[in-house]
Amino acid sequence: MIQLYHVSKNYGNYQVLTDISLNVEKGEFLYITGPSGAGKTTLLNIIFCGVKADQGQMLVNGKNVLKLKNSDIPYYRREIGVVFQDFKLLPRKTVYDNIAFAQRVIGVRNKKLKKKVWMALKMVGLSHKKDLLPLSLSGGEQQRVAIARALINEPSIILADEPTGNLDYDVSMEILSLFESANSRGATVIVATHNREIIKNFPHRIIRLNYGKAVEN
Ligand SMILES: Nc1ncnc2c1ncn2[C@@H]1O[C@H](COP(=O)(O)OP(=O)(O)OP(=O)(O)O)[C@@H](O)[C@H]1O
Ligand SMILES: [Mg+2]
Repeated sequence: MIQLYHVSKNYGNYQVLTDISLNVEKGEFLYITGPSGAGKTTLLNIIFCGVKADQGQMLVNGKNVLKLKNSDIPYYRREIGVVFQDFKLLPRKTVYDNIAFAQRVIGVRNKKLKKKVWMALKMVGLSHKKDLLPLSLSGGEQQRVAIARALINEPSIILADEPTGNLDYDVSMEILSLFESANSRGATVIVATHNREIIKNFPHRIIRLNYGKAVEN
C-alpha cells in the first residue's frame, strides 16, 4: 500500500534520509523509532506529501505520489489521517470546530457531522471541553483533539507523529487502543515514537531510523 524506493532527503548539505526503501502492506501497523533528529517526522511528512523527497519513488495505493500535481494533493490527503508532532490545531476555532473541520472539508452534512463529532469527542474524553480554544487546553488535551481530528474521517492511512508525547501512561494506552481498533477495521497505521511502553503493550513491526538509514528491528 505504501512503497518507498530509494528515497533520500537533504536539507542543504545535511542528508536526513539516505536511500530508504520500505514496503508497508495494507492493514499493517508499523512503528518508526530512532533518536531525535533521525528523520521520523521527515519520513511521515514525505508520505503525507508535505515534504518532497529529493530522490527515489513512492507509491501509495499504486499512485505515484511524488508526481502529484499540487492541486491533487488535497484529494490524496483525504485518505490520510495525520497527527502532527506539534498538533497544528486551528487556534481560532474551538475544540468542536477543529474536529468538525475535517468532516466539513469532505462535505459531511450537519446531522451526521454533529453525531460524528460527538462520538469523536467522547472517544478522546473531551466532551466537556468542546467550546474551548486550543490554547486554553493542556498539551495532552491538545494532542487528543489532534487525534480525534485524525480519526474522524475514518481514513485508510493513519500517520501519527509521537502521538503520546504529552500523555500519561493510561491515556497513552487508550490512544493506542484507538489506533488499534482503526487498524483492526482495516486502516494502515504508522506511528513514529520514542515510547517503549506503547511498543511493549502493542507490539508491531518496527523500523528504526539511524544515520539516515532504515533498519528493520
Ligand atoms: N525544514 C527543515 N529545514 C532544515 N532542516 C530540517 C528541516 N526539517 C527537519 N530538519 C532537520 O532534519 C533532521 C531530522 O528532523 P526530523 O524532524 O525528521 O527528526 P525526528 O526523528 O522527527 O526527531 P524528533 O524525535 O526530535 O521528533 C533534524 O536534524 C532537523 O534539524
Ligand atoms: Mg519528529
